[in-house]
Amino acid sequence: MSWRNASNLAWLQAISGVSEQEPLATRTSFGIGGPADFFVEMARPDTIEKTLDGCRERDIPYLLLGAGTNLLIADAGIEGLVVRVVNRDHHVEGTRLRAGAGLKMMRLARIAADAGLRGFEFAIGVPGTVGGAVYQNAGCWGKELCEVFVEASGFQPGAGRKTWTRADLKFDYRTSALRDGALHGSLVIDATVRLERGDGEEAKRMMAKLTRERNETQPIKTKNCGSVFKNPRGDSAGRLIQAAGLKGARQGAAVISVLHGNFIVNEGGARAADVARLIQHAQTKVMERFGVKLEPEVELVGRWKGRR
Ligand code: EPU
Repeated sequence: MSWRNASNLAWLQAISGVSEQEPLATRTSFGIGGPADFFVEMARPDTIEKTLDGCRERDIPYLLLGAGTNLLIADAGIEGLVVRVVNRDHHVEGTRLRAGAGLKMMRLARIAADAGLRGFEFAIGVPGTVGGAVYQNAGCWGKELCEVFVEASGFQPGAGRKTWTRADLKFDYRTSALRDGALHGSLVIDATVRLERGDGEEAKRMMAKLTRERNETQPIKTKNCGSVFKNPRGDSAGRLIQAAGLKGARQGAAVISVLHGNFIVNEGGARAADVARLIQHAQTKVMERFGVKLEPEVELVGRWKGRR
């Protein structure tokens, strides 16, 4: 752990608002995971940028956290600094809507409807933040962020402020260059989407209908991380897991939802290792039965021995 020298620790401890050994479980929708060595919440882009440049210069590992809705944090926690990005400003200009990375997608869906815009109703089914949605091209009901995305402003440590277009971000199904490409480790500051003029009340009715539907088909009131696996091309991970007889399978307090096979529910006190075992179990069984490789959508972060 070369970064753990006296000078780096002193630098980290001097960051305004920083805490040490900060529990992260409550900062994820799963309610699972160990502490961050160092943790800070930041809203101002220039402050975050300075901090990330400092980490880069000092070889201190860092992780950018949004709402923590798609993460499985290791029980042993996260090395280095975790920065929770909380800039939540937004701005409507004609049919363009710009929102800070820390704003929740569900909130932005309502803001769009209130502004008499349509085309963003799908975001009512996206649990995370705007930053997280850009990071992995979040979607719901067959619609993805990239379809309405115009540009994002961001910051690449060592390279400075950037404006990223759709092409720069190389969006694909549940991924982008930020998650799996050259921009990994970069900060999303805000994102702009282009929508259409429409009836806001109609958009709200549509969102209420979609939410009722999601309520019936997904265990949304439980502690979970959304879809555990990506859907294999032309099929559904939930269907395959159900067909393999895995609904209700359990490891400790982690259980494969009986409502939707592609959800793992933390019934209270589940360990990350329990979830990882269930993930592996589902992958093995679905491979044995159907010859299909299930690829996790949830991102495993932190100190995982022998994984990743
Ligand atoms: N199905 C089963 N058994 C199950 C679950 C589903 O047979 O236990 C079948 C359904 O009957 C349906 C098909 O599988 O015919 C697809 O299921 P569903 O409509 O529930 O959607 P999904 O493909 O499982 C995707 C997204 C969700 C999004 C929903 C609704 C992925 C990995 N998941 O789920 O996104 O909310 O569509 O649009 O693409 C997320 O990304 O975290 C997420 C929840």
